[in-house]
Amino acid sequence: MAKSTRRPLVAGNWKMNLDHVEAIRLIQDMALRLRNLDHRAVDIAVHPPATDLRSVEGIIGADQLPIALGAQHCSAYSSGAYTGEISVAMLARLSVTLVLVGHSERRLHYAMTDTDVAATTAAVLKGLLTPVICVGESAAEREAGETETVLVRQVSAALEGVAKGAEQSIVVAYEPVWAIGTGIAATTEDAQLACGRIRDEIRERRGDVADSIRILYGGSANPENAGELVSQADVDGLLVGGASLQGESFAAIVSAVCACYGT
Ligand code: PGA
Repeated sequence: MAKSTRRPLVAGNWKMNLDHVEAIRLIQDMALRLRNLDHRAVDIAVHPPATDLRSVEGIIGADQLPIALGAQHCSAYSSGAYTGEISVAMLARLSVTLVLVGHSERRLHYAMTDTDVAATTAAVLKGLLTPVICVGESAAEREAGETETVLVRQVSAALEGVAKGAEQSIVVAYEPVWAIGTGIAATTEDAQLACGRIRDEIRERRGDVADSIRILYGGSANPENAGELVSQADVDGLLVGGASLQGESFAAIVSAVCACYGT
């Protein structure tokens, strides 16, 4: 039975793993496994490292795979003296349609601020790509009872980069920092609570369009917990790190989400 009219999205964040040769192998393996699955009801995306995008684009294009191509980060600027950065237009030329914005690893290791997240979100939307805006509290913030405050702050700041009327083009990912890469996922109740709070915040600021925005959960998602997580009312898919690096586990996650959405 379909649980909501929002189309679920399962996105694999490969982080800084796999060179382009390994990436080709993985995308081909995924494609083979997904072929045996009726996943029409689910959107699937992969976010390889930037150096892999051209190769993965080639495989997706040649084999017409039903997999969207995503990036892990981009510059808020359109061009110029920003050594090491990549623009939205460059990504668009590689058939990239989604960009992670403000992943906690960017916030933590590269000092990405809420203001940077808003500016990058605006740049991605201007380039007609979909920002996957990542929010989530740290372990310390959670222990201090600040989860809601952090989520409200991060969501409201990111919305500064979303023009009125463009809300439908965003995806939000709730990724509690303490759950990322730890093997300890949020409970389904906590995931629902946080995703519901995020939707409420968007509704308060932008109105009923909040009901059409996809909110993903991310943080140690795996084939065992995927189905239960997405069965929650406000969890519209998953952002998967570690388990997206193997075709078998990623396909198993997609399969669990399909089962929840009635295919
Ligand atoms: P994980 O990473 O699934 O390995 O916890 C999720 C993410 O950081 O997007």
